[in-house]
Amino acid sequence: MNLNKQEIETWLRETNSDRLSELWQMADRVRRRSVGDAVHMRGLVEISNHCRRRCGYCGLQAGNSRVPRYRMSAIEIRSSAAEAFSYGFGTVVLQAGEDTGIEGEWLADIIRTFKRETGLAVTLSLGERNEEELALWREAGADRYLLRFETSNRDLFRAVHPPLKGAASNRFDLLRHLRELGYETGSGVLIGLPGQSYNSLAEDICMFAELDLDMVGSGPFIPHPDTLLGRGLGFDLLPPEEQVPNTALMGYKVLALTRIVCPEANLPCTTALTTLNTNDGLESGLMRGANVIMMNLTPLTLRPFYEIYPEKSCFTEEPAETWPRLKNILEALERSPGRGPGGRKHGLG
Ligand code: 5AD
Repeated sequence: MNLNKQEIETWLRETNSDRLSELWQMADRVRRRSVGDAVHMRGLVEISNHCRRRCGYCGLQAGNSRVPRYRMSAIEIRSSAAEAFSYGFGTVVLQAGEDTGIEGEWLADIIRTFKRETGLAVTLSLGERNEEELALWREAGADRYLLRFETSNRDLFRAVHPPLKGAASNRFDLLRHLRELGYETGSGVLIGLPGQSYNSLAEDICMFAELDLDMVGSGPFIPHPDTLLGRGLGFDLLPPEEQVPNTALMGYKVLALTRIVCPEANLPCTTALTTLNTNDGLESGLMRGANVIMMNLTPLTLRPFYEIYPEKSCFTEEPAETWPRLKNILEALERSPGRGPGGRKHGLG
């Protein structure tokens, strides 16, 4: 790796705007050299907001009775996913809470049919599922799996992500297992969790390189009122000079540093970043290391219920409006939508 942990931490603490410009430029150069100017488009379908977990940060946590729960039908999933095809995107991402109502065979059938009909790459983001299900979906044709490890600090992880009864979670083992099954694997962290130190965030970024991830998406923590952390708990755990702030700026630093330590990985400009910076969040992300956009294709009627944090961007816009807007942004940056499935390119740069 080209930056060590100490250097990463120093960059995370950097406040001088001239120095930060250097960081953005460095990340942009590495991005261009390693993955080029293409911006890969993923169509995101949030297929269910049921969740068995009680994560301290997430509005979909099982204890939140204020959120109406939905699970899209197979027909609804097919029709939303097909929009990705009609826009010429290379990949559809099926995301949900950790919903055991999404049964192995049921989803395998949806994946098989979709792959047969469109040939698009399929990415799953469904939380910690068992080995049989993960193997079954892979056999059905799923290409990639996203599972953020959220933080590499074990104590903090356990505190914000309580284990299910009798089952400790080890997301690092699960990521390795996904890789063995032949999935391209993606991960990422929350930035600015209460109790997250600069040192710990630097360690997270080192882990991205160590795990040799194909995709990395991280975003600032945004408090949700119906969660433990959303009630302001925990922000006094660390001395202020050690606590990572949950700001867009910190999000960009993590993005840029991730590009530098994982040159060939696919890095999205995440929704949390565009939510915190509605002005030019996307443009800035694309100029500071990102080469992937996830465009929301969830039916508009369901989107308000997939509220992992409040005021998620893209709540009210039809894909038919979003896509021309995004194309204009890409054109202005002299970038172009990627062709093909947009998997990780090995052996470049
Ligand atoms: N703020 C920002 N990101 C969040 N996530 C969940 N809750 C929040 C929040 N309050 C992220 C987690 C999860 C991903 C799907 O969404 O990192 O892995």
